[in-house]
Amino acid sequence: MHISIVDAAALPAEGRQQMAEILTAAFVRWPNAWPTLAEAQEELEEFAGAIAAGGDSARIWRAALDDDGRVLGWIGGLPEYDGLVWELHPLAVDPGLQRRGIGRALVLDFEQRVAERGGLTIQLGSDDESNLTSLGGQDLFPRPLEKLLQIENLHDHPYSFYLKLGYEFIGVVPDANGFGKPDIIMGKRVAA
Ligand SMILES: CC(C)(COP(=O)(O)OP(=O)(O)OC[C@H]1O[C@@H](n2cnc3c(N)ncnc32)[C@H](O)[C@@H]1OP(=O)(O)O)[C@@H](O)C(=O)NCCC(=O)NCCS
Repeated sequence: MHISIVDAAALPAEGRQQMAEILTAAFVRWPNAWPTLAEAQEELEEFAGAIAAGGDSARIWRAALDDDGRVLGWIGGLPEYDGLVWELHPLAVDPGLQRRGIGRALVLDFEQRVAERGGLTIQLGSDDESNLTSLGGQDLFPRPLEKLLQIENLHDHPYSFYLKLGYEFIGVVPDANGFGKPDIIMGKRVAA
């Protein structure tokens, strides 16, 4: 499939609507994320508002489109640590179009945009709210990092996607979403 990656802020209302639908649909296995279309739309408004207020330094917001201009997925990010580290958040691909390279294309584009803006490293948090990994449902204390290094993917958790793209585990936040529901932190350096 041919895809192009464009600035999401420039998309018309129809594109924004498709982005909200994709966000809600892609995160059904994360009930604390964007369970309703209204919450997804709020997230989009936050991106649009931050970009309008702060220009290029405020956020990165990119969408993958097919040749008819339909949104296939999107990615966002915000600067932290004075722009040296960017947080990748969120990333969502239309559930019917996953495993066709769209997520990879969005992340690679994001990495280029971060490097262009002087960012050195990307970090992201990938929650496990539903026992998708061996870290779910258990007490990570004591020695949470030892448990992180022994992680197993039980039900297609996206950490394996990020490993394929060169991301590494850099931390874990036990109980980020309630007991036994950690946030798995990954990162990658993008500067030469
Ligand atoms: C995670 C997500 C963005 C991946 O997008 P995608 O378009 O399906 O991924 P790609 O097709 O580009 O996959 C790239 C590689 O990762 C692999 N991969 C993708 N998702 C995977 C998963 N859940 N588990 C293991 N491997 C995975 C693909 O098989 C492919 O491998 P290959 O290089 O050997 O062919 C997408 O599945 C999604 O939107 N998921 C729901 C929301 C989500 O998890 N977002 C990220 C949370 S931080």
